[in-house]
Amino acid sequence: MTPHPHPTSSLEPVPQLDLAAQYAAIGGEIRAAVERVMVSQQFVLGREGAALEEEIAKLCGVAQGVGVASGTDALMLALRACGVQAGDEVLLPPFTFVATGSAISALGAKPVFADIRPETYNIDPTELERRVTPRTRAIVAVHLYGLAADMDPILAFARARKLPVIEDNAQAIGASYKGRRTGSHGDAGCLSFYPTKNLGAYGDAGMVVTNSADLAVHLRTLRNHGQTGKYVSSEPGWNSRLDEMQAAILRVKLRHLAKWQRARQSHAAEYNRLFSQIPGVMPPIAPEGYEHVYHQYTIRVEYRDALQKFLTDRKIGNSVYYPEPLHLQPLYASLGHKKGDFPHSEKAAQEVLSLPIYPELRKEQIARVAEAVAKFLKC
Ligand SMILES: Cc1ncc(COP(=O)(O)O)c(C=O)c1O
Repeated sequence: MTPHPHPTSSLEPVPQLDLAAQYAAIGGEIRAAVERVMVSQQFVLGREGAALEEEIAKLCGVAQGVGVASGTDALMLALRACGVQAGDEVLLPPFTFVATGSAISALGAKPVFADIRPETYNIDPTELERRVTPRTRAIVAVHLYGLAADMDPILAFARARKLPVIEDNAQAIGASYKGRRTGSHGDAGCLSFYPTKNLGAYGDAGMVVTNSADLAVHLRTLRNHGQTGKYVSSEPGWNSRLDEMQAAILRVKLRHLAKWQRARQSHAAEYNRLFSQIPGVMPPIAPEGYEHVYHQYTIRVEYRDALQKFLTDRKIGNSVYYPEPLHLQPLYASLGHKKGDFPHSEKAAQEVLSLPIYPELRKEQIARVAEAVAKFLKC
């Protein structure tokens, strides 16, 4: 019998993410791109960044992209460009990475939380009505794990009140909602190219995408010390420029993104198939009209902490995104929230577990993960 090219022993670790496998496949292209930047000796605001801005804008189906230093900066600068100032209130879900909140806080604005829908983990549009006040100045909708928030009712709510909508698209590049890509629905879409993201740089990087030419001009000023001409600064800004090395690397990876996305979707379908036979596991859902890009494949189970230990003991990668919702973080103690304020976010934080879903994952590894989950649930 011919041995399987990748025999999976029951002891072989399954990592949560394997960027080394990705580098093994595309390392030659990456090194050529880095070399190109070295030869050009142009490291900031050059050709690579400009080309990446065009390519990402095209992918998101919008007119403009503005490269910045991180996803957090993308959010902060987009909020600022949309007029958010100190003392304003900004609506956001509490079940997200802290950066969504800290971008608001960095402007001196106040995060005001609106709970999530338990089945999608994204902001519940009906909650916006309960939380809006005369001081509300913007809404941030997060597309968590690679699935879009329900944008139509969010946009209808925002338009009726003339509030800008910023999409935190850090986890959902390439996803779509009702036929249009995430990032193209609101006034601005914010991307993170943090190394572990579906499109990850070799360091920090981010981008704001928008259909508004005015907003893009403003963002270009803000990311470069508020300069409107050479050594003429017209408003407070700071340095949040995307460097050329990262842009060149991202352009290489962008050529592979659609293929990687299909691989993630096919792995998710395989997990879904296996989990459909295991009672007690709630797999992620992708409602009709949504294309999920599975930045994370996140299940929900009742005894999550025990399952996490069980998988870790068997060297199966897993992570909890996120164990504490923002309203219960020490950072936001001054907002005076308590347990029970946002029950869906709190319950999700106790029950979610993200399993390995990177493109290079093999079918037998998926089977091993699912078998281990099944074994735990039978215990
Ligand atoms: C939902 C969300 N928002 C914002 C960010 C911030 O991005 P960055 O780490 O590039 O600053 C991240 C990722 O880290 C994220 O997952």
